[in-house]
Amino acid sequence: MATTFVMVKPDGVRRGLVGEVIRRMEQKGLRLKAMKLLQVSPELAAQHYAEHQDKPFYPELIAFITSGPSVPMVWEGREAVTVARTIMGATDPVKALPGTLRGDYGLAITENIVHGSDSDASAEREIGLYFAPHELV
Ligand code: TYD
Ligand code: MG
Repeated sequence: MATTFVMVKPDGVRRGLVGEVIRRMEQKGLRLKAMKLLQVSPELAAQHYAEHQDKPFYPELIAFITSGPSVPMVWEGREAVTVARTIMGATDPVKALPGTLRGDYGLAITENIVHGSDSDASAEREIGLYFAPHELV
């Protein structure tokens, strides 16, 4: 069964949106396989966002993602990568449709509440960064 990596970012945790993210994923029919609360270190942030290291927004992204606790999770279900990103909405909350997490709760682009893997390969890599195999249930 397909799995994906989803993380409630520090703004989502600060704003009390952890339950809302979980509720929408569960309601859709995805199954929670792993979850924890942690503050992302600069080293982990650099690994997570390695693909963006040359982008102009990178320093701001790393400062934000390390600014407080996050809630990384693994979800399982049919086409889990696509389903989770549909629930999240577009990267820029200005473009995210109502009914999506970013569409309903966000306006800033860096502080956009939630992360979701963009492919099966990214999901496998990101799950490996945040979880040991024995933490997946
Ligand atoms: P990206 O991987 O393109 O988006 P997504 O999270 O939807 O996969 O970008 C990673 C994060 O970087 C994104 O969630 C928010 C931040 N970001 C900016 O701050 N400014 C930008 O112009 C872009 C494209 C992303
Ligand atoms: Mg991405």
